[in-house]
Amino acid sequence: MAAKVISFINLKGGVAKTTTTVGTAFALAEHFHKKVLVIDLDPQTNATSMLIGEERWAELDEENSTLYNLFLDAVDGSRDFSLRRSIQKNVGNIKDAPGVDLLPSGLKMIYLQDEIYDIQYNNRTFNDPYMVLDITIGPVMNDYDYILIDCPPNLGILSLNGIQISDGYVIPCIPDILSTYGISQIQNRISIFAHNKKLKVKLLGIVFTKTKKTAALHTRIQEDFRNRSDAPCFKTVFYENSRYAEAAEYMEPLTFRQKWGGSDGVQPYYDFCQELMERVR
Ligand SMILES: Nc1ncnc2c1ncn2[C@@H]1O[C@H](COP(=O)(O)OP(=O)(O)OP(=O)(O)O)[C@@H](O)[C@H]1O
Ligand SMILES: [Mg+2]
Repeated sequence: MAAKVISFINLKGGVAKTTTTVGTAFALAEHFHKKVLVIDLDPQTNATSMLIGEERWAELDEENSTLYNLFLDAVDGSRDFSLRRSIQKNVGNIKDAPGVDLLPSGLKMIYLQDEIYDIQYNNRTFNDPYMVLDITIGPVMNDYDYILIDCPPNLGILSLNGIQISDGYVIPCIPDILSTYGISQIQNRISIFAHNKKLKVKLLGIVFTKTKKTAALHTRIQEDFRNRSDAPCFKTVFYENSRYAEAAEYMEPLTFRQKWGGSDGVQPYYDFCQELMERVR
């Protein structure tokens, strides 16, 4: 069975796209015994740093083993990228979550983005700028139960490469005024893209993140969204939790529970995974 592919996307920065992608990957592996590949499509390389640390990332960058090299191949035909070599196995140093792998990102992807649009003119393997990842990822699609994609905070060519291979997407969002702007633009842009490309990708839901239990505004905005028919929301809410911020640090091996803050930290992830698996089925 081919992996179910899910993108985590929002135009807004800092809304916990990366945290939710990585926490979900560990919860799927530790609690549900799933094989998970995380694809870090964001040139900020945050998911990559969380999962393998800066030092290992620098080595891979040196060895041409990040997604930068995939997109560079597509742009200039350099043929440096090898999927099997680039996928990092059992990452994250979470003792009880074996089976989380990573396709790392590269900082230099920032400089390439505009050139990717031109590839159809000069490249035989990659003749569609939106399908670079699609053409590449095929050989490992059957190795995983889930592929989770951490997108940059925009709907540019890198994110759309992720949407191209996705069965569904999740919009992580803080329930405040500025973070909820743009949600309908995301839905519109992706549905036009999906229509043009004949894709079946669907919005799995909005998940509220970094939510303050006592903030009236957070409660009101959640209620507004839950009453709307055009934007499905996950029941699970990720409340503000300093342990989630601390979990971004790459460190010595710990269990998922130890690193992500005990039951208070991991239970929302288990609940979220349960909902996610049902919605993407
Ligand atoms: N529930 C939470 N409580 C407190 N802090 C959180 C929570 N979730 C995430 N954070 C912290 O908030 C910050 C932003 O989170 P994250 O990097 O996951 O967002 P992002 O949407 O991926 O950002 P970007 O748009 O830059 O990629 C990080 O410092 C992260 O550790
Ligand atoms: Mg991020």
